[in-house]
Amino acid sequence: MSIEEQLERLRKKQDQAKLGGGPDKITAQHAKNKLTARERLELLLDPGSFEEFDMFVAHRSNDFGLDKQRIPGDGVVTGCGLIDNRIVFVFSQDFTVFGGSLSEAHAEKICKVMKAAMKMGAPIIGLNDSGGARIQEGVVSLGGYADIFLLNTLASGVVPQISAILGPCAGGAVYSPAITDFVFMVRKSSYMFVTGPNVVKTVTHEDVTMEELGGADTHAIKSGVAHFACDSEAEAILGIRRLMSYIPSNNVDDPPIKETNDPPDRCEEKLNYLIPDNPNKPYDMTEVIRLIVDEGEYFEIHRDYAPNITVGFARLGGRSVGIVANQPAHLAGVLDIDSSIKGARFIRFCDAFNIPIVTFEDVPGFLPGVAQEHSGIIKHGAKLLYAYCEATVPKITVITRKAYGGAYDVMNSKHVRGDMNYAWPTAEIAVMGPKGAVEIIFKKEIESSPDPQKTLDEKIAEYTEKFANPYIAAERGYIDDVIEPVKTRPRLIRALAMLATKRDSNPPKKHGNIPL
Ligand code: HXC
Repeated sequence: MSIEEQLERLRKKQDQAKLGGGPDKITAQHAKNKLTARERLELLLDPGSFEEFDMFVAHRSNDFGLDKQRIPGDGVVTGCGLIDNRIVFVFSQDFTVFGGSLSEAHAEKICKVMKAAMKMGAPIIGLNDSGGARIQEGVVSLGGYADIFLLNTLASGVVPQISAILGPCAGGAVYSPAITDFVFMVRKSSYMFVTGPNVVKTVTHEDVTMEELGGADTHAIKSGVAHFACDSEAEAILGIRRLMSYIPSNNVDDPPIKETNDPPDRCEEKLNYLIPDNPNKPYDMTEVIRLIVDEGEYFEIHRDYAPNITVGFARLGGRSVGIVANQPAHLAGVLDIDSSIKGARFIRFCDAFNIPIVTFEDVPGFLPGVAQEHSGIIKHGAKLLYAYCEATVPKITVITRKAYGGAYDVMNSKHVRGDMNYAWPTAEIAVMGPKGAVEIIFKKEIESSPDPQKTLDEKIAEYTEKFANPYIAAERGYIDDVIEPVKTRPRLIRALAMLATKRDSNPPKKHGNIPL
């Protein structure tokens, strides 16, 4: 064969592989408002940067007529490429080939890029669109899933793992994304469930649609499985690129620095007047955050789940920070089960990947109630406490208003190794709010008073004057400084610069035992 003939043969094979399941299947994919596996990679990666691996890999099964259908690539496109010039490893499942189902060979391709990602210290991004285990292959495909789960677990905390769910994701297929750090979903075209609506109907007699059971909003609002619910695939994929800009490539790198024109000494007058005079009035903590961070850019994560806490990425003086903040605009910013879990998982990501944590605190305490107690607020709240305690990255707190009870301890207090703890003059740091406290400690006095209401009001005023401020904590050194709200940005930027060389560690151990 001449070299021309050999080249022709190669090109033909490449063209065949690039067609996946063929033009009809591609048309069907587009008709569902879905992009193909390769179109998705084009959107995700810097132009022309994709290097494909294993284009010619095919399955090895001969059962159920599979010997007559060997499609090169076997339903997943894998390789590496660049995002903002940084290397990432990727796999993109091709629904046009056997419904993107996972065979032994398909799993091997995914494992190969995952291992490469770990070896090279680069993130792994999975674009999932699959009918689950390749039914014709039986246990071999189940083994393939388990191989992926193991690598997901080993890679956890070593390289960032990001999943986009861009189609069905059923059965065991949900567990790989679930172990990854961030999950993006798309409304009306992506689904995650352990068992689908038909099985649910058979077992529990519940009627439920795919969207209600496992659609993007369900997982972004109710279950918390998804961190982002997007309106289109393009939005999800561009969201991944944006997320990447805040995080490092691995657990020994630092996050990328982004130069900014936002002056480090910018003082925001409005901050002095944001806290309402009435302590029971809400305000929007994300407004506080946006007024402080570089160019007002706050990349909120898990926005629709447990909105009484807000978490996300921002930059201060060009450096990436993870923000964790109580949100008084929802349930007064109280800590409950869901918000504790949300905060804890985010803190652990930041700690694993060298991203300093800035906490804004305005919390009345943990949410009382039978439902919360019976569902385990004790063990779930302990997750947040544990996550703050074990984190060794730079940790800064700003108490804007309430810091009551156990929540004061939990929200990165000095006692759990907060590095710099600031309070605004509006801070109230005490065991509990004035009314509750007075009703307990002056119970007898109030009851025996000729005018109980007057006595109650007097005692509340006395308690408020004495305890509902930051100065007792500051006298002890639990608060490093009481700062003017307008100066929060410059103070945080200076603190982060000071903490850039921070070294801290935990006692050697196999791993801790976080209360799961
Ligand atoms: C082999 C599959 C497949 C699968 C789909 N296909 N799922 N082939 N194994 N798991 C094939 C179909 O036969 C079809 O081939 C093509 O992909 C497209 O599928 P359609 O059904 O036509 O598409 P659609 O109507 O969009 O429905 C998509 C779907 C449905 C919802 C994903 O196909 C489906 O329910 N599939 C089975 C899902 C499932 O139960 N998977 C196993 C989960 S258990 P042709 O040739 O006709 O185009 C599991 C265990 C893992 O994953 C455990 C790990 C711990």
